[in-house]
Amino acid sequence: MSNISIKTPADIEGMRIAGRLGSEVLDYITPFVKVGVTTGELDRLCHEYMVMVQGTIPAPLNYCPPGYTPYPKAICTSVNDVICHGIPGDKALKDGDMVNLDITVIKDGYHGDNSRMFLVGKPSILAKRLNEVTYECMWLGIAQVKPGAHLGDIGHVIQQHAEKNGYSVVREFCGHGIGKVFHEEPQVLHYGRPGTLERLEAGMIFTIEPMINAGRREIKEMGDGWTIKTKDKKPSAQWEHTILVTETGYEVLTVSAGSPPPPAFITQAAAPAVA
Ligand code: MF3
Ligand code: CO
Ligand code: CO
Repeated sequence: MSNISIKTPADIEGMRIAGRLGSEVLDYITPFVKVGVTTGELDRLCHEYMVMVQGTIPAPLNYCPPGYTPYPKAICTSVNDVICHGIPGDKALKDGDMVNLDITVIKDGYHGDNSRMFLVGKPSILAKRLNEVTYECMWLGIAQVKPGAHLGDIGHVIQQHAEKNGYSVVREFCGHGIGKVFHEEPQVLHYGRPGTLERLEAGMIFTIEPMINAGRREIKEMGDGWTIKTKDKKPSAQWEHTILVTETGYEVLTVSAGSPPPPAFITQAAAPAVA
C-alpha cells in the first residue's frame, strides 16, 4: 500500500505556479553568479526577489525536520565538495568553482523546488563533465516518468549513467513527494532496479534531484548540522526539477523562460519523425 497523494486539478494548477516561480528565481540570480560574489549575497538577492517581487516565501528559512536545527537561510548554496544543504555565508566564489543553487518557494501554500549548477569563471574539464553527466542523469530519470512505470526505473537509469561515467550516486538523500508539504512520500531514490518500488499514477508530484559525486559516494556531515560534503573531498553536482505524472508521461513544473534546454536525447525522442 502506498501513501502517495494524488493531486487534484486545483493542486496541480497551484503547483504549476509555484514551480514556475521557483524556476524564475534561478533565472533572476543567474547573472549574479560570478567570481567574487559571496554565497551570502546570492542568498540575500534571492530572498529579496522572492519576498518583494514574487510574493513567495522561501521554504528553507527556519525549516526544521525532526533531528535538525532550523535552517538559517533562504536558499542552499553547495560549492565544489559540498553535496547539498550548503549554508550561504561570506565565502566568495572563485575561478573554477562549481556551485549548486537550490531554491524552494511557497506560493499560496504550494511548494516549487528546483536547483541548477553554475560553473564559475573557467571550469575544469572535470567540472564540466561532472555537471553534464549529472544533468543527463536528472533528465534520464525524468524521461522514465509515466503511469505504470516504477520508482525503481528512475533510480536505475540514473545510477547506470553515473556509474558508466565513473561517478557515484549519493544514497543518503533522495527526491521526494511535494505539494502543500515540502517533503512527503514517496522517497525518490537515485539508484535502484527496474520494476521495483511504487508504481506511478497520474497526479503524483515529486522531485528528481540526483547528487552525483566525481569520486566515492560516501558523505561527511559538517558540524553546522546541515552541510553535507563528500568524504573524499572530490566535487559533487546536483540538478533538480519538480515533476507531475500526467496521463501520457510527465510535465516538468519547474520551468520558466531561462530553464536550460533538455538534452538532445529528450527533444529528439519527443520530436515527430521527419519524412
Ligand atoms: N531544497 C532541498 C531539496 O531539494 C531541501 C533543502 S532543506 C533546507 O529537498 F532546509 F536545507 F533548505
Ligand atoms: Co527537493
Ligand atoms: Co531543492
